[in-house]
Amino acid sequence: MQLEHQPEIVVLQDPEAVAHFVVSEIIKQVKLKANSVLTIPTGKTPERTYELLVEAVQNGEVNFDKVTLRMLDEYACLERKDSRTFQNHLRRKLIDPINFPNDRFQTIDSWPEDDFPEEARRFENLIKRTPSDLTILGIGQNAHIGFNEPPARPTDRTRVVQLSDDTLRANKKDISKHGKRTPEFAITQGIGNILESKRIILMATGKSKADIIRQAVREAVSAHIPASYLRLHPKTIFFLDRAAASQL
Ligand code: F6R
Repeated sequence: MQLEHQPEIVVLQDPEAVAHFVVSEIIKQVKLKANSVLTIPTGKTPERTYELLVEAVQNGEVNFDKVTLRMLDEYACLERKDSRTFQNHLRRKLIDPINFPNDRFQTIDSWPEDDFPEEARRFENLIKRTPSDLTILGIGQNAHIGFNEPPARPTDRTRVVQLSDDTLRANKKDISKHGKRTPEFAITQGIGNILESKRIILMATGKSKADIIRQAVREAVSAHIPASYLRLHPKTIFFLDRAAASQL
């Protein structure tokens, strides 16, 4: 049996405050270790965080010259130019505005000409010897972190996964594009990779996340609540707004 920890839970007024706190944690991390490796998510929750982070880098509040940014997950089977890829999303929101160089941006590629299991192996080999210093996560309605859908195992590594119906439904508005196929598969860092990170931050905002946050924090650690595995990590902080914390 693995030791369980009580995650630190920080409840803040609103999503804006959550974004500010997460940015200040990122800045602290990079000031402590200039060559930090940061795993970063996509999705709606961190969007404001990236806007604030771009401002902080542009103002010289923090120096990203030695930082490595690492993707958490990516849809499988979208074209290189498709605006829906997580990689293109991160490029628009963070990478391009701060002129972050490609050689320190560790990406998972979505392009259809690639062999996805091979792409997952390539990424796993790239990251396995250098665990992330800080991993930032959102949480899905079914408690997925990255695209680790339930049931998930704490030993899972980077691999190709099939998206659950819950996730396809939740993401439909963003990923269904007229006349284009909706991706049903993804490549994700596994729970095992996430738990190797030296520190983990999970951010969640809004009432729609309240029940799943309660389950992740209060219910027994289980494969059916992938985010509950974060309690096996001694340095996890949950940054929540009041709405997301309302069932704790
Ligand atoms: C995205 C990711 C997902 C999202 C989750 C929440 O890279 O890994 O686990 O964090 O689906 O998405 P939002 O933030 O859109 O509610």
